[in-house]
Amino acid sequence: MKTTSIPLTYQQESKNALREDITHFYDEATSDYSFWSKDLNMHFGYFVLGSTNPFKRDTMLNEMNRQIYNRLQLIDGKTTVADLGCGMGGTMRNFLKKNKQLSTIGVTLSPFQVREGNKLLKGKKGMILKENYCETSIPSHSVEGVVGVESLCHSGHSKESLREAFRILKPRGRFVIGDAFLKKEPSQLCFGSSFSYKKLCKGWSLDGLGVISKVEKNLKEIGFSKVTVEDISFRVAPSVFHVPFAIVGFLMLQVFQHKKVKSQSWNNLKASFYALVSGLHMNDFGYYLITAEK
Ligand SMILES: C[S@@+](CC[C@H](N)C(=O)[O-])C[C@H]1O[C@@H](n2cnc3c(N)ncnc32)[C@H](O)[C@@H]1O
Repeated sequence: MKTTSIPLTYQQESKNALREDITHFYDEATSDYSFWSKDLNMHFGYFVLGSTNPFKRDTMLNEMNRQIYNRLQLIDGKTTVADLGCGMGGTMRNFLKKNKQLSTIGVTLSPFQVREGNKLLKGKKGMILKENYCETSIPSHSVEGVVGVESLCHSGHSKESLREAFRILKPRGRFVIGDAFLKKEPSQLCFGSSFSYKKLCKGWSLDGLGVISKVEKNLKEIGFSKVTVEDISFRVAPSVFHVPFAIVGFLMLQVFQHKKVKSQSWNNLKASFYALVSGLHMNDFGYYLITAEK
């Protein structure tokens, strides 16, 4: 397996997200996510009236997986989906449950996630590799689907990461991104948005959120067609409103168990709070599902 590193230009330009910071953050804070999601989904949810329970977080988090899966429009028969920034493989395991003919391959920077995520995938057709999603060892034109769920923000939804998705996809394969984006340039954000945005990026080691119009343009420039951008902020909001309760619950559990809250756990809690604050600035931030075809 070839070793990978984030291109120098990315590291030089990055203000927040050095690869070591991201790795350290996820190596320390990933176990906290078991409090957020029994299925270890490290993302927000998608609310559908009648089929998801707004008080049961995992129903919404798994609905997000389902929405993303449906947009891949996988062909019948044997297929492979790559998850760029797969965390503990929550999305991969969800997809594998839905489709017995599917194989999945995920990449993450965190050795903890590789070790523990692969344990959860044992006996299933899935594997997690420690690789940079801007430069994976996945062969060109080899997979039917690619997803990036709240992961490409770590590289500011960089053109390198989008190009990598294009490279590994087979013709007519689909790429689905689920993530928060900016509606305008960072310099145009109001004071409150700008403040919470900086705190959010620092706490979660994000290079920054892409500006939605620019990301759409970049996808088309790379060669993707049928680029569809859906603003699903209102669908995501019910799970975002779980954040304050999850923070208080998590802290209480640490006190009961006489555990010290680790520094990266604090970063995670602070960033989660600022994600909620940012989400309230609806003129500046939105949560989107982007679908694009090669
Ligand atoms: C918030 S988690 C989301 C995990 C997963 N997609 C989910 O929804 O459960 C972000 C993930 O992106 C990964 N990540 C960030 N930058 C990366 C990079 N350059 N290459 C590979 N993975 C990266 C992290 O290691 C982490 O697994």
